[in-house]
This record gives sequence, structure tokens and C-alpha cells, in this order.
Amino acid sequence: MTETSPSADLAGRRVLLTGASRGVGAAVARQLVAAGADVLGTARDAAALDRLATELTGGAGSFTSVVAELTDDTTPARLAEAVGQRWGALDVLLNNAGVMLARDARFEDEPAGTLEESLLVNCVVPHRLVLALLPALRKGTDPRVVHVSSGAGTTELIRDAGIGSYRVSKWALNGLVLMQAAQLAGEVAVNALDPGWVRTDLGGDEAPGTPEQSAAGALALLREPPTVTGRIFKDGAEISF
Ligand SMILES: NC(=O)c1ccc[n+]([C@@H]2O[C@H](COP(=O)([O-])OP(=O)(O)OC[C@H]3O[C@@H](n4cnc5c(N)ncnc54)[C@H](OP(=O)(O)O)[C@@H]3O)[C@@H](O)[C@H]2O)c1
Repeated sequence: MTETSPSADLAGRRVLLTGASRGVGAAVARQLVAAGADVLGTARDAAALDRLATELTGGAGSFTSVVAELTDDTTPARLAEAVGQRWGALDVLLNNAGVMLARDARFEDEPAGTLEESLLVNCVVPHRLVLALLPALRKGTDPRVVHVSSGAGTTELIRDAGIGSYRVSKWALNGLVLMQAAQLAGEVAVNALDPGWVRTDLGGDEAPGTPEQSAAGALALLREPPTVTGRIFKDGAEISF
């Protein structure tokens, strides 16, 4: 960190977090609430969200949830309405939900529609959520968007074997970060997070890292100064797209 961020203290920060029910998202929710942030988490699994809310009751911050299928056309407006009713403004949109489909197939063996579904969840939905939440972000304090991307979509690793549609969807998400950061310059900071390869349903049991490590990286990025935008971070340090 090169300058002091007015939002280095995450207490009271109003955060909309997707993919909060498990994996990296649940770990981010736990660490944000411990840091005093107020988190509105969303996912499809209502029971998992309820369990997390119970676990986090009495924390420094707060956790409440909205059950939603992110690919529904009505979801972005519904989440914007929930944010509006709860806070009237938003400080952080953390687009964490993602899918890795057909993980063991060469790209030509992926089922029909794999690229389309990957792009929808991993890139189009984050774009729709930014569009829907922009008015609330513009009313927020030091507003930020973090898109959870992947090393698999960087120039270094896009040519590696397997998960072709996943790689392309995260490459596209990285492009979304660069575009939105440029067009929202001076208004909303937009950055990408590479959470590393960690043990979750998506990452699998062989992954070397933990979702808690990814979450620590997410909180480090949220503590960066608002002038940091259009970049990608991993474990608290900038990497290359
Ligand atoms: N784990 C890794 O090694 C790794 C590496 C690089 C990048 N990432 C990225 O990190 C992010 C989190 O991954 P993870 O490992 O935590 O994955 P995960 O354990 O599979 O969790 C995915 C989350 O996204 C939500 N989600 C997925 N599709 C959804 C939909 N259509 N509507 C609503 N919610 C949806 C899931 O909730 P419900 O099922 O309850 O809806 C769940 O909370 C993803 O963007 C992933 O690409 C992960």
C-alpha cells in the first residue's frame, strides 16, 4: 500500500457479496464480519446462507442474506432493491460467484453450451450486477467493485491445458475489469482478485491453499487506496493480467 486508504478500516463498510454460501465467498463473509463490515450475501442455497448467518450472529459486523439465482434476468434489480432498502447506498460489490464446468474435458469435448454458460455466470452476470448497483455505488463511500477472477484467465496461463471455457470466461472478466475501471475512473474503483488455487467445491481437494487465504487476499485488496483501479491482485500483491 503506497498511501493511506480512507477505507483501510473495513468497519461499517456496506458489502454485497455473491457466492456467499460456501468456499471462498463464505470465508470472505467470515473475515469481513470479523473486521466489522456489514455484509449482504447472496447465493441459491438458502440453508447454507442461514447457517452462515447464525454462525456470524454477534460478530463485529453483520451478515444477512438474499437467496437468488444469479442468472435470472430479474436478480440484478432485486439485489439492487434489497441494497436500497437496507442501506440506500453501497460501498463494495464483491462479485465472487463463479462456475467451472466440464473440468476434465478438452475444449472440443465440452458439452454444447459450456462456453455460453461459463460466460454467463462468470462475466455477464458480474457486468449486469455492476449496471444494477451503479446508482447505489455512486451514493456509497469510497465505492469499489471486486471481480473474483482466476489465474487461469491470465495471459500467463490461458494457453495451459484443460478448462478451456473457464479460462476464456475469466479472460473476458479481466477485460471487463479493465473496461469498467477506465470508464468509472474517479468514481468507482474496479479491480480483479485471483484467489489462488484453494480447496473448495470448485478448486477440489488437491488444491494447495485454503479459502481463508483467498479471503485474506480479498480483504487486503479492499484496504488498498481508492486510486488503485484496473488491476489484478493475488495474496495482497499485484500480478499481471
Ligand atoms: N477455488 C479455487 O481454486 C479458485 C481458483 C481461482 C478462481 N476461483 C474463483 O473464486 C470464486 C469462488 O470460487 P469457489 O472456489 O469458492 O467456488 P464454489 O465453492 O464452487 O462456490 C461457488 C459459489 O458461487 C455460487 N454460485 C454459483 N453459481 C451461481 C448461480 N447461478 N447463482 C447464484 N450463485 C451461484 C454458489 O452458491 P450456490 O450454489 O449456493 O448458489 C457458491 O456460493 C469463483 O469465481 C471462482 O471462479 C476459485
